[in-house]
Amino acid sequence: MAIVTSKEMFERAQKGGYAIGAFNVNNMEIIQGITEGAKELNSPLILQVSAGARKYAKHNYLMHLIQAAVEDTDLPIVVHLDHGADFDICKKCIDGGFTSVMIDGSKYSFEENIALTKQVVEYAHPRGVVVEAELGKLAGVEDDVNVSEEDSSYTNPDQAAEFVERTGCDSLAIAIGTSHGAYKFKGEPKLRFDILQNVMDKLPENYPLVLHGASSVIPEFVEKCNKYGGEIPGARGVTEELLKKAASMGVAKINIDTDLRLAMTSSIREQFVLNPSEFDPRKYLSVARDSIKDMVKHKIKNVLGSDNKI
Ligand code: G3H
Ligand code: 13P
Ligand code: ZN
Repeated sequence: MAIVTSKEMFERAQKGGYAIGAFNVNNMEIIQGITEGAKELNSPLILQVSAGARKYAKHNYLMHLIQAAVEDTDLPIVVHLDHGADFDICKKCIDGGFTSVMIDGSKYSFEENIALTKQVVEYAHPRGVVVEAELGKLAGVEDDVNVSEEDSSYTNPDQAAEFVERTGCDSLAIAIGTSHGAYKFKGEPKLRFDILQNVMDKLPENYPLVLHGASSVIPEFVEKCNKYGGEIPGARGVTEELLKKAASMGVAKINIDTDLRLAMTSSIREQFVLNPSEFDPRKYLSVARDSIKDMVKHKIKNVLGSDNKI
Protein backbone atom coordinates (compact mmCIF):
# COMPACT_ATOMS: atom_id res chain seq x y z
CA MET A 1 0.00 0.00 0.00
CA ALA A 2 0.93 3.64 -0.18
CA ILE A 3 -0.01 7.16 0.81
CA VAL A 4 -3.14 7.70 -1.29
CA THR A 5 -5.72 10.42 -1.99
CA SER A 6 -9.22 10.20 -0.54
CA LYS A 7 -10.98 10.03 -3.91
CA GLU A 8 -11.54 6.30 -4.13
CA MET A 9 -11.85 5.98 -0.34
CA PHE A 10 -14.77 8.45 -0.32
CA GLU A 11 -16.48 6.83 -3.32
CA ARG A 12 -16.48 3.47 -1.59
CA ALA A 13 -17.58 4.97 1.74
CA GLN A 14 -20.50 6.81 0.11
CA LYS A 15 -21.71 3.66 -1.61
CA GLY A 16 -21.22 1.56 1.53
CA GLY A 17 -22.96 3.97 3.95
CA TYR A 18 -19.97 4.44 6.24
CA ALA A 19 -17.48 7.27 6.91
CA ILE A 20 -13.70 7.58 6.95
CA GLY A 21 -12.16 8.74 10.23
CA ALA A 22 -9.78 11.67 10.00
CA PHE A 23 -7.60 11.66 13.10
CA ASN A 24 -5.22 14.47 14.08
CA VAL A 25 -1.57 13.52 14.54
CA ASN A 26 1.31 15.24 16.36
CA ASN A 27 3.89 12.58 17.20
CA MET A 28 5.02 8.98 16.85
CA GLU A 29 2.88 7.46 19.59
CA ILE A 30 -0.30 9.03 18.21
CA ILE A 31 0.49 7.87 14.66
CA GLN A 32 1.30 4.36 15.87
CA GLY A 33 -1.78 4.13 18.10
CA ILE A 34 -4.13 5.27 15.31
CA THR A 35 -2.65 3.12 12.57
CA GLU A 36 -2.33 0.01 14.74
CA GLY A 37 -6.00 0.36 15.72
CA ALA A 38 -7.06 0.78 12.09
CA LYS A 39 -4.90 -2.18 11.09
CA GLU A 40 -6.52 -4.47 13.65
CA LEU A 41 -9.95 -3.57 12.25
CA ASN A 42 -8.88 -3.49 8.61
CA SER A 43 -10.07 0.10 8.20
CA PRO A 44 -9.00 2.84 5.74
CA LEU A 45 -8.07 6.12 7.39
CA ILE A 46 -6.98 9.73 7.07
CA LEU A 47 -4.18 11.18 9.18
CA GLN A 48 -4.49 14.93 9.39
CA VAL A 49 -1.96 17.54 10.37
CA SER A 50 -2.91 21.00 11.61
CA ALA A 51 -0.65 24.04 11.21
CA GLY A 52 0.11 23.74 14.92
CA ALA A 53 1.04 20.07 14.62
CA ARG A 54 3.23 20.79 11.61
CA LYS A 55 5.04 23.49 13.56
CA TYR A 56 5.38 21.27 16.64
CA ALA A 57 6.66 18.07 14.99
CA LYS A 58 8.02 19.51 11.69
CA HIS A 59 6.74 18.56 8.26
CA ASN A 60 9.48 16.04 7.43
CA TYR A 61 9.23 14.14 10.69
CA LEU A 62 5.49 13.70 10.26
CA MET A 63 5.83 12.65 6.60
CA HIS A 64 8.46 10.04 7.44
CA LEU A 65 6.53 8.74 10.45
CA ILE A 66 3.42 8.35 8.31
CA GLN A 67 5.44 6.65 5.57
CA ALA A 68 6.77 4.26 8.22
CA ALA A 69 3.20 3.56 9.37
CA VAL A 70 2.18 2.75 5.78
CA GLU A 71 5.06 0.30 5.50
CA ASP A 72 4.36 -1.19 8.90
CA THR A 73 0.60 -1.67 8.48
CA ASP A 74 0.17 -1.91 4.70
CA LEU A 75 -2.91 0.32 5.05
CA PRO A 76 -4.00 2.91 2.47
CA ILE A 77 -3.49 6.21 4.32
CA VAL A 78 -4.35 9.77 3.27
CA VAL A 79 -2.10 12.57 4.56
CA HIS A 80 -4.24 15.67 4.91
CA LEU A 81 -3.63 19.28 5.94
CA ASP A 82 -6.28 20.23 8.52
CA HIS A 83 -7.58 23.83 8.45
CA GLY A 84 -5.08 25.34 6.01
CA ALA A 85 -5.46 29.07 6.62
CA ASP A 86 -3.97 30.40 3.38
CA PHE A 87 -2.61 29.45 -0.03
CA ASP A 88 0.99 29.37 1.20
CA ILE A 89 0.56 26.56 3.75
CA CYS A 90 -1.52 24.53 1.26
CA LYS A 91 1.23 24.94 -1.36
CA LYS A 92 3.93 23.85 1.11
CA CYS A 93 1.96 20.71 2.01
CA ILE A 94 1.18 19.88 -1.63
CA ASP A 95 4.85 20.33 -2.58
CA GLY A 96 5.86 18.34 0.51
CA GLY A 97 3.95 15.14 -0.29
CA PHE A 98 0.51 15.57 1.30
CA THR A 99 -2.23 13.96 -0.81
CA SER A 100 -5.04 16.17 0.47
CA VAL A 101 -5.32 19.71 1.80
CA MET A 102 -8.05 21.71 3.46
CA ILE A 103 -8.31 25.38 2.67
CA ASP A 104 -10.44 26.88 5.40
CA GLY A 105 -11.90 30.12 4.08
CA SER A 106 -14.97 29.87 6.29
CA LYS A 107 -14.15 33.10 8.10
CA TYR A 108 -14.19 35.09 4.84
CA SER A 109 -17.12 36.34 2.77
CA PHE A 110 -18.71 33.88 0.32
CA GLU A 111 -16.92 35.44 -2.67
CA GLU A 112 -13.55 35.65 -0.89
CA ASN A 113 -13.88 32.02 0.23
CA ILE A 114 -14.61 31.01 -3.39
CA ALA A 115 -11.61 32.92 -4.76
CA LEU A 116 -9.20 31.46 -2.18
CA THR A 117 -10.51 27.90 -2.57
CA LYS A 118 -10.30 28.15 -6.35
CA GLN A 119 -6.69 29.28 -6.15
CA VAL A 120 -5.79 26.21 -4.06
CA VAL A 121 -7.77 23.84 -6.31
CA GLU A 122 -5.95 25.20 -9.38
CA TYR A 123 -2.60 24.48 -7.76
CA ALA A 124 -3.56 21.12 -6.22
CA HIS A 125 -5.39 19.31 -9.01
CA PRO A 126 -2.62 19.27 -11.64
CA ARG A 127 -0.39 17.81 -8.92
CA GLY A 128 -2.81 15.00 -8.07
CA VAL A 129 -3.85 16.45 -4.71
CA VAL A 130 -7.48 16.78 -3.56
CA VAL A 131 -8.95 19.81 -1.77
CA GLU A 132 -11.42 20.11 1.10
CA ALA A 133 -13.10 23.48 1.65
CA GLU A 134 -15.48 24.79 4.32
CA LEU A 135 -18.72 26.70 4.20
CA GLY A 136 -20.57 27.77 7.32
CA LYS A 137 -18.93 28.48 10.66
CA LEU A 138 -18.47 25.97 13.50
CA ALA A 139 -18.38 27.14 17.10
CA GLY A 140 -15.41 26.20 19.28
CA VAL A 141 -11.64 26.48 19.63
CA GLU A 142 -8.99 25.29 17.20
CA ASP A 143 -5.45 26.63 17.40
CA ASP A 144 -5.77 30.39 17.93
CA VAL A 145 -9.25 30.70 16.37
CA ASN A 146 -12.13 30.91 18.83
CA VAL A 147 -15.68 31.12 17.47
CA SER A 148 -18.48 31.71 20.00
CA GLU A 149 -21.82 29.90 19.71
CA GLU A 150 -23.46 33.21 18.77
CA ASP A 151 -21.01 33.79 15.90
CA SER A 152 -21.36 30.28 14.47
CA SER A 153 -23.66 29.73 11.50
CA TYR A 154 -25.12 26.72 9.72
CA THR A 155 -24.22 26.01 6.11
CA ASN A 156 -26.64 27.43 3.56
CA PRO A 157 -27.57 24.55 1.17
CA ASP A 158 -28.06 26.78 -1.90
CA GLN A 159 -24.69 28.41 -1.32
CA ALA A 160 -23.09 24.96 -0.92
CA ALA A 161 -24.16 23.91 -4.42
CA GLU A 162 -22.89 27.14 -5.96
CA PHE A 163 -19.66 26.98 -3.96
CA VAL A 164 -18.81 23.46 -5.10
CA GLU A 165 -19.64 24.20 -8.70
CA ARG A 166 -17.59 27.40 -8.85
CA THR A 167 -14.53 26.19 -6.92
CA GLY A 168 -14.21 22.57 -8.08
CA CYS A 169 -13.33 21.51 -4.51
CA ASP A 170 -13.36 17.74 -3.92
CA SER A 171 -15.12 17.71 -0.55
CA LEU A 172 -16.94 20.22 1.62
CA ALA A 173 -16.98 20.69 5.39
CA ILE A 174 -20.39 21.82 6.55
CA ALA A 175 -21.72 23.29 9.79
CA ILE A 176 -24.78 21.39 11.06
CA GLY A 177 -24.24 21.54 14.82
CA THR A 178 -20.85 20.08 15.69
CA SER A 179 -18.23 22.24 17.38
CA HIS A 180 -14.45 22.17 17.89
CA GLY A 181 -12.65 21.39 21.14
CA ALA A 182 -13.60 20.02 24.56
CA TYR A 183 -15.85 22.88 25.58
CA LYS A 184 -18.75 22.11 23.32
CA PHE A 185 -22.28 23.32 24.03
CA LYS A 186 -24.21 25.15 26.68
CA GLY A 187 -27.48 23.50 25.66
CA GLU A 188 -28.40 20.02 24.47
CA PRO A 189 -26.17 19.00 21.53
CA LYS A 190 -28.09 18.27 18.36
CA LEU A 191 -27.35 17.74 14.70
CA ARG A 192 -29.41 19.44 11.98
CA PHE A 193 -30.13 16.43 9.78
CA ASP A 194 -32.60 18.53 7.80
CA ILE A 195 -29.75 20.82 6.70
CA LEU A 196 -27.53 17.81 5.94
CA GLN A 197 -30.27 16.28 3.76
CA ASN A 198 -30.92 19.59 2.04
CA VAL A 199 -27.22 20.06 1.25
CA MET A 200 -27.02 16.48 -0.06
CA ASP A 201 -30.06 17.05 -2.28
CA LYS A 202 -28.53 20.17 -3.84
CA LEU A 203 -25.07 18.71 -4.48
CA PRO A 204 -24.12 16.12 -7.12
CA GLU A 205 -24.97 12.57 -6.03
CA ASN A 206 -22.47 11.09 -3.56
CA TYR A 207 -20.56 14.36 -3.19
CA PRO A 208 -18.27 13.91 -0.12
CA LEU A 209 -19.26 15.98 2.92
CA VAL A 210 -17.12 16.45 6.01
CA LEU A 211 -17.96 16.92 9.68
CA HIS A 212 -15.45 18.78 11.82
CA GLY A 213 -15.67 18.99 15.59
CA ALA A 214 -16.96 15.42 15.76
CA SER A 215 -15.49 14.37 19.09
CA SER A 216 -18.18 13.43 21.59
CA VAL A 217 -16.14 14.43 24.67
CA ILE A 218 -16.96 11.11 26.31
CA PRO A 219 -17.63 11.83 30.01
CA GLU A 220 -15.62 8.79 31.20
CA PHE A 221 -12.42 10.36 29.84
CA VAL A 222 -13.12 13.88 31.08
CA GLU A 223 -13.81 12.41 34.53
CA LYS A 224 -10.62 10.34 34.40
CA CYS A 225 -8.60 13.45 33.44
CA ASN A 226 -10.17 15.37 36.30
CA LYS A 227 -9.73 12.57 38.82
CA TYR A 228 -5.97 12.52 38.27
CA GLY A 229 -5.23 16.21 37.68
CA GLY A 230 -6.47 19.75 37.14
CA GLU A 231 -10.01 20.14 35.95
CA ILE A 232 -10.83 20.02 32.22
CA PRO A 233 -14.27 21.64 32.02
CA GLY A 234 -15.38 19.50 29.09
CA ALA A 235 -19.01 19.65 28.10
CA ARG A 236 -20.53 16.81 26.15
CA GLY A 237 -20.38 16.97 22.33
CA VAL A 238 -22.76 15.52 19.78
CA THR A 239 -23.49 11.93 20.76
CA GLU A 240 -21.91 9.03 18.93
CA GLU A 241 -25.37 7.79 17.93
CA LEU A 242 -26.06 11.04 16.06
CA LEU A 243 -22.66 10.95 14.37
CA LYS A 244 -23.25 7.35 13.36
CA LYS A 245 -26.51 8.40 11.74
CA ALA A 246 -24.69 11.19 9.85
CA ALA A 247 -22.15 8.62 8.59
CA SER A 248 -24.89 6.29 7.39
CA MET A 249 -26.72 9.18 5.65
CA GLY A 250 -23.71 10.01 3.49
CA VAL A 251 -21.14 12.07 5.42
CA ALA A 252 -17.82 10.80 4.05
CA LYS A 253 -15.25 12.17 6.54
CA ILE A 254 -15.52 12.62 10.29
CA ASN A 255 -12.81 14.58 12.14
CA ILE A 256 -11.71 13.49 15.60
CA ASP A 257 -8.99 15.09 17.69
CA THR A 258 -10.32 16.05 21.13
CA ASP A 259 -11.42 12.50 22.05
CA LEU A 260 -7.88 11.27 21.28
CA ARG A 261 -6.37 14.04 23.40
CA LEU A 262 -8.63 13.16 26.31
CA ALA A 263 -7.86 9.44 26.03
CA MET A 264 -4.11 10.04 25.92
CA THR A 265 -3.95 12.70 28.61
CA SER A 266 -6.19 10.82 31.03
CA SER A 267 -4.02 7.71 30.78
CA ILE A 268 -0.79 9.65 31.32
CA ARG A 269 -2.27 11.53 34.29
CA GLU A 270 -3.45 8.27 35.82
CA GLN A 271 -0.03 6.70 35.54
CA PHE A 272 1.75 9.64 37.13
CA VAL A 273 -0.62 9.53 40.08
CA LEU A 274 -0.67 5.74 40.52
CA ASN A 275 3.04 5.32 39.88
CA PRO A 276 4.74 8.61 40.84
CA SER A 277 8.27 7.19 40.82
CA GLU A 278 8.11 6.09 37.17
CA PHE A 279 10.43 8.13 34.96
CA ASP A 280 10.93 5.98 31.88
CA PRO A 281 8.94 7.70 29.08
CA ARG A 282 8.52 4.39 27.27
CA LYS A 283 6.44 3.07 30.18
CA TYR A 284 3.83 5.81 30.26
CA LEU A 285 3.90 6.56 26.52
CA SER A 286 3.23 2.95 25.58
CA VAL A 287 0.13 3.00 27.80
CA ALA A 288 -0.86 6.33 26.22
CA ARG A 289 -0.36 4.83 22.75
CA ASP A 290 -2.64 1.93 23.69
CA SER A 291 -5.30 4.38 24.87
CA ILE A 292 -5.20 6.08 21.44
CA LYS A 293 -5.49 2.70 19.76
CA ASP A 294 -8.50 1.72 21.88
CA MET A 295 -10.25 5.04 21.17
CA VAL A 296 -9.67 4.71 17.41
CA LYS A 297 -11.05 1.16 17.43
CA HIS A 298 -14.05 2.36 19.40
CA LYS A 299 -14.73 5.13 16.83
CA ILE A 300 -14.28 2.81 13.84
CA LYS A 301 -16.75 0.31 15.29
CA ASN A 302 -19.28 2.63 16.96
CA VAL A 303 -19.28 5.78 14.84
CA LEU A 304 -17.64 5.34 11.45
CA GLY A 305 -18.52 1.77 10.46
CA SER A 306 -15.30 1.57 8.42
CA ASP A 307 -14.08 -1.78 9.80
CA ASN A 308 -13.30 -4.47 7.23
CA LYS A 309 -13.61 -2.02 4.35
CA ILE A 310 -10.18 -2.53 2.76
O1 G3H B 1 -9.71 21.39 14.47
C1 G3H B 1 -8.56 21.45 14.89
C2 G3H B 1 -7.82 20.32 15.46
O2 G3H B 1 -8.38 19.88 16.67
C3 G3H B 1 -6.37 20.64 15.57
O3 G3H B 1 -6.09 21.41 16.68
O4 G3H B 1 -4.85 23.33 15.70
O5 G3H B 1 -4.66 22.78 18.15
O6 G3H B 1 -3.61 21.30 16.43
P1 G3H B 1 -4.71 22.27 16.75
P1 13P C 1 -12.79 17.86 17.73
O1 13P C 1 -12.19 19.00 18.47
O2 13P C 1 -14.26 17.72 18.02
O3 13P C 1 -12.06 16.58 17.91
O4 13P C 1 -12.69 18.22 16.15
C1 13P C 1 -11.51 17.97 15.43
C2 13P C 1 -11.50 18.63 14.10
O5 13P C 1 -12.50 19.07 13.57
C3 13P C 1 -10.21 18.74 13.41
O6 13P C 1 -10.31 19.47 12.22
ZN1 ZN D 1 -11.79 21.03 12.30
